[in-house]
Amino acid sequence: MTSSEIRQRFLDFFAKRGHAILPSASLVPKNDPSVLFNTAGMQPLVPYLMGRPHPLGNRLASSQKCVRTGDIEDVGDSRHLTFFEMLGNWSLGDYFKEDAIKWSYEFLTSKEEGLGLDPARLYVTVFEGDENAPRDFEAVEIWKQFVPENRIYFLPAKNNWWSAGDNGPCGPDSEMFYDPSPVPLGDMTHEQYVAADDVGDIVEIWNDVFMEFEKEHGKVIGKLGSKNIDTGSGLERVSMMVQGKSNVYEADMFAPVMSLIKEHAVNYSERNARIVADHLRTALFLIADGVTPSNKDQGYILRRIIRRAVLKMRMLVLPEGTPIGNNILDHYINFYAPVYPEILKTDIRTIFKTEEDKFQKTLISGLKEFDKQFSSGVDPFMLATTYGFPIEITEELAFERGLVIDRELFNAQMKAHQDSSRAGAAAKFKGGLADTGIKTTQLHTAHHLLLAALQKILGPEVHQRGSNITEERLRIDFNFDRKLTDEEKLAVETQVNAWIQTNHKVCRKEMPLSEAKQIGAEMEFGTKYPDIVSIYMIEDDQGQAISKEFCGGPHVEQTAGLGTFKIQKEEAVAAGVRRIKAALS
Ligand code: SER
Repeated sequence: MTSSEIRQRFLDFFAKRGHAILPSASLVPKNDPSVLFNTAGMQPLVPYLMGRPHPLGNRLASSQKCVRTGDIEDVGDSRHLTFFEMLGNWSLGDYFKEDAIKWSYEFLTSKEEGLGLDPARLYVTVFEGDENAPRDFEAVEIWKQFVPENRIYFLPAKNNWWSAGDNGPCGPDSEMFYDPSPVPLGDMTHEQYVAADDVGDIVEIWNDVFMEFEKEHGKVIGKLGSKNIDTGSGLERVSMMVQGKSNVYEADMFAPVMSLIKEHAVNYSERNARIVADHLRTALFLIADGVTPSNKDQGYILRRIIRRAVLKMRMLVLPEGTPIGNNILDHYINFYAPVYPEILKTDIRTIFKTEEDKFQKTLISGLKEFDKQFSSGVDPFMLATTYGFPIEITEELAFERGLVIDRELFNAQMKAHQDSSRAGAAAKFKGGLADTGIKTTQLHTAHHLLLAALQKILGPEVHQRGSNITEERLRIDFNFDRKLTDEEKLAVETQVNAWIQTNHKVCRKEMPLSEAKQIGAEMEFGTKYPDIVSIYMIEDDQGQAISKEFCGGPHVEQTAGLGTFKIQKEEAVAAGVRRIKAALS
């Protein structure tokens, strides 16, 4: 079954069940300045989920174009994409859990009307309950009609509570996962299930949100006027499953592009090829919805995406004279024009080419400077301000060479440089929402506690090699030459949580670089610092430093209130460098 057929089947299935079919809204949201792009099918429907009557009734379905750039660094693995189509059905105070679950199951498994997926490869998660809503036994009871109870898992709000941001409609959800393995994984305990999800052995294919609550400033404030349903299923992932593939790039929308790159690249790399395939498609849809490359907001992101694709095409060494970029764009245009005719309206190739030419000039001088700086320490700030070298490109080049860039410091330097619009867009690019939000700020402080705990548990020779913080999680890279044991991870978590609970003050001091070095403040290997630096200290009651680090902030004023710290993932990132992703809940 092709992806076009899957899309059509989905819309037909819900039309037959009384849903009005909506065309996809533009990728750029109208009247919603809180997000740069539609990141879910529900986004254009927020006013209706909040209670306004919809002119087409209270049952709706669509295939909505979405762009998510928060996970851009994961693009290149088997399933992350910056652009995707989200299939979704909605009930505005009409049907609720029973029909939503039943239809999700029917569509996934029915051979006649749906996708005919194998029910024996299906797993389901439901909300385990917290102070906002009870454990969702109701959803379990409904699911038990279709899947064995031991394939239904309770998970916390972190996994099974959905909201588009800090404000608006939200609710507990029930997610469906599919196992694409050659030999089915079969029954799994709760722990085995969580581990299989962690390593990507199973893939989320649909989310049914029971949207009856409202959030304000990140807190659930009560119930909405009606019980709504909001579901979402990624067309690319579903296509990969239905077509029996193990990664999205083998599905029909990408496969010809991947072959084209493989055929022509002198220096083929699967990851780089996937990034090109992903980014060119995203650029195409953004341009079709009226975005043009610029230094602000949506335009800034388009610029980054085009430039990253161009850099990757260069790394793949696609021979001169092969108009490969255009061939890829042509494939996507032909593939999608019947469904999204807007891609025929704009002169996409010219916009792309103009940006590519601009970047080629920057690229040549920037690459030279990067290589020159490489042995003595890369200065991403200088590369950005003097050479117009985007930070993501510097990070990318650094990553290829096993070096990591201090993103926090870079952001602080850019802020100081008073280039506020660009720095703001850069923050949105990585973090999804404004990056001085409370969650991001809390994670900044947790990041410092984590480094101090790693040094305490693993040894003082551990130092930071890179970092990145979004509003969902923190990421730290540090030098260490082996995998952490479970005991070590637990000890690190326990230490961080103990510091949080004891409540320590966090204060900022500015001082000359030499003084900061003298007091032994943590700095990052391979990074150049300005003459006057900002140091954040976390001290215990006796005034002894738990942590002192070079950092631009922002931070909370005291550690109490950070919540519970948890390590989500620990992995190798380069020789002798480990990476931890962690979150607060
Ligand atoms: N809004 C939910 C999601 O994006 C369901 O569509 O997962």
